[in-house]
Amino acid sequence: MIRPKCIRSLILSLCGFFLLALPNTTFAQDTPPTVPPDADPTTGLQIYRQRCANCHGDLGLGDGELAAQLPNPPTAIGSPDYLSTADPNQIFATIQQGNVLAGMPAFGEGGNSDPLSDAQIWDIVAGLYTLEQFTQPIEAAKISGRVTNGTTGEVIPNSTTILQAFTSDFTNALQLETTTDSDGRYTFDLTDIPPDWFYRTVATYEGLDFTSDFVPLTPFITDIALPVTVYNSTTSDDNVSISQLEIIFTFGDDRVQVAEFYTFSHSEDSVYVGETGDYRGGTLRFSIPENAENVAILRNVGGVVDFVPMDEQTIVTSPTERRIAWPLSPGQAGLRLLVRYTYPYDRALDFSHPLPYPVETLSAIMPDNGVSLSNADWAQQEITYSETNDPALTRVRFAPTSPNPTAINASLNGFPERVLDESGQLIIARNEQQELTIGIIALLITLTAVASLAYRWRTTPPALNDQDELLQQLAALDLAYQEKQIGRTLYQRRRTQLKEQLRTIWRTK
Ligand code: HEC
Repeated sequence: MIRPKCIRSLILSLCGFFLLALPNTTFAQDTPPTVPPDADPTTGLQIYRQRCANCHGDLGLGDGELAAQLPNPPTAIGSPDYLSTADPNQIFATIQQGNVLAGMPAFGEGGNSDPLSDAQIWDIVAGLYTLEQFTQPIEAAKISGRVTNGTTGEVIPNSTTILQAFTSDFTNALQLETTTDSDGRYTFDLTDIPPDWFYRTVATYEGLDFTSDFVPLTPFITDIALPVTVYNSTTSDDNVSISQLEIIFTFGDDRVQVAEFYTFSHSEDSVYVGETGDYRGGTLRFSIPENAENVAILRNVGGVVDFVPMDEQTIVTSPTERRIAWPLSPGQAGLRLLVRYTYPYDRALDFSHPLPYPVETLSAIMPDNGVSLSNADWAQQEITYSETNDPALTRVRFAPTSPNPTAINASLNGFPERVLDESGQLIIARNEQQELTIGIIALLITLTAVASLAYRWRTTPPALNDQDELLQQLAALDLAYQEKQIGRTLYQRRRTQLKEQLRTIWRTK
């Protein structure tokens, strides 16, 4: 079968043949229009991505995310068909003055609140002529790097290193394997690869997977250094701490929902793998009150409302203690865990429980609904009233009165005046300052029901990286959609979110 693209290039080359065969004079122009030689295509493409790509598409193929909503389709200004006949001066003029009635904004002085200078517009025009290269396969590229032990500083020789390539749609498209040399170095030579894939390397060390950053290869970036840092494992929890613990109370009819948001940190250049040396036997401990109901444990994977269930990684060690089968990577925020449960509530509740690790900051957040929080070991730091006051959200922050508290001793007292309504609608005001709070609250109400249905969880060792979780989620989401467990709108929205998060990971690195 001949693909349409081939037909097009066939026609183009035939046309080319006839053009060449015709007398030159027919097409001659007095001064052939050109882009000024000092225009910088790289800068141009940067501006293009910020100002134009949402309509015209990343590669100028007319397929930006806003394209479908526009009255006229945005022109495929990066396509060879368009550029081979377009006049650069005309392109310049269109960008500067726009064609507002047709849906093309003006970007020049006077036509735009954030106008582009003439030089910037020329940069963009120059950039457009380079876009086509991004659709051509890359003939040859190299990804190389070194595997280093972040605990000891030593290089890791003879270590299996895997290169993974992902399409722009985040499907794993290629997997290559090599072994590091005596100097810990590895090299992957690639030929004839698509121009929009991105890559990472994975090194396995002491049974744990360590990944490099995500990087794209483009026709302009064909040689990339991609180091991987692995770490020794430790069975000592001496340097494990809870750098932050936020507790959010949400009141229902006869219940209070408690959400404890832990940020676990490891201030040592090694991976904490639990007391037994095998993280699968459980690493991080935490307590829940004895009569807690509907216990759910979720892990945060980036965005404020992006949590994934940890059911498969949760180990019940006693009615009041749980452990997580998860290696804690070095540094701040190695694991952000949401422990959520409900508790019968009438007029009072003692939710005291031990804290397994030293805590740096503790916050308790609750609506201003007549219930008070009293406690012995923690001093109240600040109260933030919501701006609207109706319905009010009072945020109370507590700080430990003694260093390294070993328990939370606190209780709720009073009858809640405002609670969740039947549909789970929370009567709390929105406040941008409290994005996290709102994010978690929104999550509590909406996200988990769908997520726990739709997602499957693996039992293979988790990598110490959120990328994997996001990739895993994408695959699971596709599956859930194929199996009609979720609808199209939710599927597309979620998929866009996940892709955006992955893009952020590899763009910021
Ligand atoms: C809000 C969406 C939108 C944005 C943002 C936008 N364009 Fe357009 N553009 C359009 C639409 C729609 C058309 C087609 C208008 C028509 O039908 O004539 C167009 C047409 C054009 C054309 C004319 C193509 C031709 O027919 O000759 C050029 C050149 C162009 N855009 C460049 C740009 C550049 C460069 C940027 C960024 C600086 C940009 N556009 C930003 C929507 C947009």
